[in-house]
Amino acid sequence: MDMNNRVLRKFGFKKDQNGIINRYIREKPYWDTHLFNTKKFIIDSTRNKTKNTCVVLGSGWLLDVPIEDLSTIFNTVYLVDIVHPRQIKHKYRKIENIKFIQADISGYIKPVYDFMKIAIKKSLDITNISQKISPELNEITANASMVVSVNILNQLDILICDYIERFSVFTTEQVKVFRKIIQQKHIDLLPENKSCIITDYEEINTDDNGSVIQSRPLVYIELPLNKYVKKWVWNFDTHKTYHSKFNTDFKVMAWNK
Ligand SMILES: C[S@@+](CC[C@H](N)C(=O)[O-])C[C@H]1O[C@@H](n2cnc3c(N)ncnc32)[C@H](O)[C@@H]1O
Repeated sequence: MDMNNRVLRKFGFKKDQNGIINRYIREKPYWDTHLFNTKKFIIDSTRNKTKNTCVVLGSGWLLDVPIEDLSTIFNTVYLVDIVHPRQIKHKYRKIENIKFIQADISGYIKPVYDFMKIAIKKSLDITNISQKISPELNEITANASMVVSVNILNQLDILICDYIERFSVFTTEQVKVFRKIIQQKHIDLLPENKSCIITDYEEINTDDNGSVIQSRPLVYIELPLNKYVKKWVWNFDTHKTYHSKFNTDFKVMAWNK
């Protein structure tokens, strides 16, 4: 991976990942159903696949990944993340068929970083940023028996677009067009008949009586769904640390592509 830590720090990837584990520690009983459903969906999705290699995109802390099952079912499991937690690499270092790949799943982090250096000085079209998926990632997803996109589809645009918005160069609408491009390219990366996708798609904010105060979509593209979509609610934040006035739930869905 030829991206330096400085770029990753500027986008806040490590901080964001630490935020996930800290929130999990606070919210564990409320997250359990979501984590169980995600793992079960992944295991169920392995049934009709060949069992050579499995690629997990957005593996992080493996909270929602049934890693022991996958490493038993498949010859090799590739875990892909922009930063792998040190503790996770250490925990699985002796399991030979679990391989860690550090890569940008979106292919846009370094291109956006370079693009913004110029965009702050002269007018550029945000839709012209070109994607650079690492050849290694392209190859392992194309040749995999199964590719799992685990709670990452709507995450891919967030830190990248937060970075863009810091410069106040593009309008919210222009950035949204780019969000759509990032999400669509992720769906396109997932090979047909071999992919399993779990994603949150709507944020619901409620008051202490459970009344919905506001909601917003998290996925901006048309998804290639089929009739076997599973849906559930993830009680994401019950301590008002995500929104100071509300509790936050995410609607989640899972399907095979
Ligand atoms: C919401 S988490 C998914 C939960 C994760 N499976 C876990 O248990 O921690 C999203 C993960 O995707 C990673 N990620 C976000 N954007 C990425 C990118 N562009 N390339 C690779 N990984 C990315 C984050 O580092 C994080 O670990």
